[in-house]
Amino acid sequence: MKISIVGAGYVGLVAAACLARLGNKITLVDIDKERLKQVSQGVSPIHEPELAEILGQVDIETTSDYQRLVDSEVIFICVGTPSNDNGSMSLEHIVEASRRISEVLKVKRDYCVIAVKSTVVPGTTENAVIPILEASGKKAGDDFGVCMDPEFLREGKAVYYYMNPARIIIGELDPRSGHTLANLYKDFKAPVMRTSIKTAEMIKLASNSFLAAKISLINEIGNICKALDIDIYEVAKGLGYDERIGSKFLNSGIGFGGSCLPKDLKALIARSRQVGYKPKILEHVLKLNDKQALRMVELLRRHISLKGATIGILGLAFKPGTDDVRESRAISIAEVLLKEGAIVKAYDPVATQSFATLFPEIEYTTPEEVLKCDAVLIVTEWEEFEHLDYRGKIVIDGRRILKAKEARIYEGVCW
Ligand SMILES: NC(=O)c1ccc[n+]([C@@H]2O[C@H](COP(=O)([O-])OP(=O)(O)OC[C@H]3O[C@@H](n4cnc5c(N)ncnc54)[C@H](O)[C@@H]3O)[C@@H](O)[C@H]2O)c1
Repeated sequence: MKISIVGAGYVGLVAAACLARLGNKITLVDIDKERLKQVSQGVSPIHEPELAEILGQVDIETTSDYQRLVDSEVIFICVGTPSNDNGSMSLEHIVEASRRISEVLKVKRDYCVIAVKSTVVPGTTENAVIPILEASGKKAGDDFGVCMDPEFLREGKAVYYYMNPARIIIGELDPRSGHTLANLYKDFKAPVMRTSIKTAEMIKLASNSFLAAKISLINEIGNICKALDIDIYEVAKGLGYDERIGSKFLNSGIGFGGSCLPKDLKALIARSRQVGYKPKILEHVLKLNDKQALRMVELLRRHISLKGATIGILGLAFKPGTDDVRESRAISIAEVLLKEGAIVKAYDPVATQSFATLFPEIEYTTPEEVLKCDAVLIVTEWEEFEHLDYRGKIVIDGRRILKAKEARIYEGVCW
């Protein structure tokens, strides 16, 4: 199929690469010309396993000219939906992308489906996207189709999860719109659920709410276990045998970060409050998550005075496998350390560059140099941290790196 993808970020770029590999003709649009240049040279602007290899093999047309979308059968909107200051979701990029697509629709003769892949709060596609598209003079449901096709990929294994999704959710304006997308996904081995647009939007936010709540809940139980001298990881193993609970997402530690869980929760809370419902559980999930990262600094203070001390951070990405530092727990930890007068040194295998734009005052160095600091905090569970020499060190571990237990002083955040 002829497919266009608007937004060459984690979601758009992975979708472009995977759909191109499956034999579709892909046009990738972005406003970031540098990013497009890299993609056109077969270079991945982001770190994701397998992605660079696929980009080197496939042919993707890259452009910042929306008129090149005119032959598309499906146009995916994959632009960012960051938080506004009040936690609500910013629709700035979605609105602009829809406006530019609307200009394409004005001159487009054939039917095509516009599919929103960006995460949005329920009602956005129908109340914001469709009216802008219809400003083209064309009618949704007649001249063009609309779907909401939430993305569930996981950064760090994005290609794998794009190709092997747990489910495909198609929120459709009408059967013809939904059928077009279902046809595109016909070779994927995953259950396909066709539903209304609003329901699809909510399924994505509800998924992230559940995942976030599960993490905060196991962290809270972990905090209690630490106080009672019980191993939370053994407790979690016992819990995981119950299929209603499941064994995934039970690693207690310093909580969740990334571009999705925190912002999507904030957006659902803001939307919920707008319609008169105060979502107390979701609010507490976020509050506990914010506090959890700073527990590491509290534990550190028990062993060392921060002012003038050199403190090492191992891991800056919000999780292993990615260079994404958006809402990484390392951010709030570094902020407090620097504010309290510590000298901070840090190491991450791939995320140093992104983190350095936020914290130029940190010294970025090798893991060996980080381990020479007065104390070390383990913030991301990169596998290579299982092979370092922690003997003689003070280590506060936020991610259960077993090898670090050999340290002279070792404290786990919940164990
Ligand atoms: N990152 C994830 O793991 C993930 C997973 C599921 C869903 N999502 C959702 O998908 C959406 C995209 O996330 P992301 O992480 O890929 O974002 P991102 O910030 O990595 O990428 C967004 C891209 O859109 C481009 N862009 C912005 N405005 C544009 C415009 N008018 N025209 C063309 N391009 C434009 C930006 O330059 C950028 O390259 C968000 O709504 C996010 O919540 C993300």
